[in-house]
Amino acid sequence: MTLTPTDASRAVLITGCSSGIGRAIAIGLQQRGYRVFASVRQAQDIPELKSLGLDSLQLDLADSGSINSAVDQVLAQTQGQLYALVNNGAYGQPGAVEDLSRDTLRSQFETNLFGTHELTNRLIPTFRAANNGRIIQISSLLGYVCLPYRGAYNASKYALEALSDTLRLELHSSGIKISLIEPGPIRSRFRANAYAAYQRHIDAENSPHRALYTQLAHRLLAEKSASFTLPAEAVLAPVLHALENKRPRIRYRVTFPAHLLATLKRLLPDRWLDYALKQISEKEQPPK
Ligand SMILES: NC(=O)c1ccc[n+]([C@@H]2O[C@H](COP(=O)([O-])OP(=O)(O)OC[C@H]3O[C@@H](n4cnc5c(N)ncnc54)[C@H](OP(=O)(O)O)[C@@H]3O)[C@@H](O)[C@H]2O)c1
Repeated sequence: MTLTPTDASRAVLITGCSSGIGRAIAIGLQQRGYRVFASVRQAQDIPELKSLGLDSLQLDLADSGSINSAVDQVLAQTQGQLYALVNNGAYGQPGAVEDLSRDTLRSQFETNLFGTHELTNRLIPTFRAANNGRIIQISSLLGYVCLPYRGAYNASKYALEALSDTLRLELHSSGIKISLIEPGPIRSRFRANAYAAYQRHIDAENSPHRALYTQLAHRLLAEKSASFTLPAEAVLAPVLHALENKRPRIRYRVTFPAHLLATLKRLLPDRWLDYALKQISEKEQPPK
């Protein structure tokens, strides 16, 4: 069952709309009649989104002050009424687990988990007051299986899944519904941004994984997409379902690898799953 046109004009706040999935969802929801607050980490990205007719504002998940100020602005502009929050903003920190410093891991969690959590908690009272509201978490297939050299990101998405599953149980009778969207490979700026995080935080020269880092950098910079990659717009349909269906799903998987790996995880013993994940990871590397 879908919502009426009046419902669809409700306000939605989305994080990380400068590119990729966030941008595609913002445009798609606006075209459907939603009032979209397309937030961005950097103020320099606001004018372009405003030129598309979106409400845009700065919201840096790594900065509590920025989160509070964005929430205040949105609620002031909607008379305290917000229908949904789409937690999309995040980045991938590549690197072997043994090469992740405490600060590097903390930075990954500051954005992908702590900021997302803080923003969500700031908005739950608004949803509670309305006895209605949707929280949509853009997770990843790396929120339920792990690939090597992505430990920080895997951990942040597993943690997001755990908080979301807990919140769903706790908000059971509140009228607030929480859905996880778990995409596989999607065309976006994700790899370019991950390469920048790799350069910023990983000391490849002094690592026992040095040789592999050369391949990893190649993969992150490659023009060619991974197999079964879909455009960012592929995430719009599950977001619409999660926003508009009376009984939104708990999990939505997007792309063939996301479905396949969920099935393999359910069926295979741990060691066999490890083997499959290692094969997938090696297949992604360019030839030596
Ligand atoms: N692409 C994939 O294959 C894939 C697969 C599964 C899940 N996902 C998830 O999909 C979501 C969107 O990623 P994407 O693929 O669209 O990548 P993207 O093009 O790199 O977009 C990521 C967005 O997050 C923003 N962001 C990063 N740090 C932030 C912070 N501290 N505060 C607020 N926003 C921040 C980025 O802003 P800046 O431009 O300012 O850095 C950008 O707008 C992420 O949650 C990602 O984990 C992506």
